[in-house]
Amino acid sequence: MTEVNPASREKTLMTNTGNNCKYGLCDGSGWVISSDSDGRETSHRCKCLLETIKQKKYESLLKESQIDDLRHMTFESYKPQHPTQKRAYEQTSAAHKGYYLFGPYGVGKTHLMAATVIRAIEKDVVSAIITVPKLLDTLRRYGDKDTAAVETLAYEADYLAIDDIGKHKITDWTEERLFMLIDERYKKFISRKIHTSVSSNLPPEQLSNTIDPAIVDRIRGMCTEVFVDGKSYRINGKL
Ligand SMILES: Nc1ncnc2c1ncn2[C@@H]1O[C@H](COP(=O)(O)OP(=O)(O)OP(=O)(O)O)[C@@H](O)[C@H]1O
Ligand SMILES: [Mg+2]
Ligand SMILES: [Zn+2]
Repeated sequence: MTEVNPASREKTLMTNTGNNCKYGLCDGSGWVISSDSDGRETSHRCKCLLETIKQKKYESLLKESQIDDLRHMTFESYKPQHPTQKRAYEQTSAAHKGYYLFGPYGVGKTHLMAATVIRAIEKDVVSAIITVPKLLDTLRRYGDKDTAAVETLAYEADYLAIDDIGKHKITDWTEERLFMLIDERYKKFISRKIHTSVSSNLPPEQLSNTIDPAIVDRIRGMCTEVFVDGKSYRINGKL
C-alpha cells in the first residue's frame, strides 16, 4: 500500500472512466485509490496491472522456454512402442499433476513433458517447459540483477516442466540456483497445488548421487515417478 497525495487522487478521479481498465476498477493507470478506516488515502495495484505484469513475465519465460520448438510434441502425435511408454502416456494424459519421467535416451520423455505443457496452455494454465542447462545458462547470462523475469516466472508458473535435470555441469552456484527453484516450487505445491514435472535419464536414487539430495527429496515429494523404457526414437525413427 502506498500513500497518495490529494492532487494525484483528484487527477485519478477526474480520469476515472474505467474505460481502459478491463475490470472498470482503475483509470487505466493500473492503480486503485481507496481510503482506509482513518480516512487516509492509499493506492494499491489493480487486478489489470497484476495481469499485465504476469503476462510480461510469462512472455519472457516463453521466449526462453523451448515450447515453440516442441509444438509438435503433443499427446496426439505420441505413438507408444513399449509397454512402459503406453503406461507413461496413460498416466501423464489422465491427470494434470507433477511427474518425474526417467529413462534412457530418445524414449519420448521430452515429448511427453511438452505434451503436458501444451495441454495445460490450451486450458489457460500459465505453463512453460525449460531444460535445466538452458535455464542455468539464461540465469548466468543475465547475471543476478536481471534474472527476475525468467526466474520469477519459473518460480511462479502454475505449471513448469523442467527437462533434463542431471545433465548440467554441477557447481556450487548451479546447486544453489536449482535448490532455490525446486524448494520454491515445492513450497507452492504444498500451499496452493501448483505442479512441476521433471525429466532425467537417472532414476531418483541415482540422481541423488549426482545433485544435492535435498533437491531430489523435494522433487520426489511433488512428482509421481514414471519410468519410460524402450529403444531410442532418434535411431529407430529413421528406419
Ligand atoms: N512415442 C513416441 N511417439 C512419437 N514420437 C516420439 C515418441 N517418443 C519419442 N518420439 C520422438 O523422438 C524424438 C526423441 O524423443 P525425446 O526427445 O522425447 O526423447 P527423450 O526421452 O527426452 O531423450 P533424452 O533423454 O535424450 O532427452 C523426438 O523427436 C520425439 O518427438
Ligand atoms: Mg529429453
Ligand atoms: Zn485496472
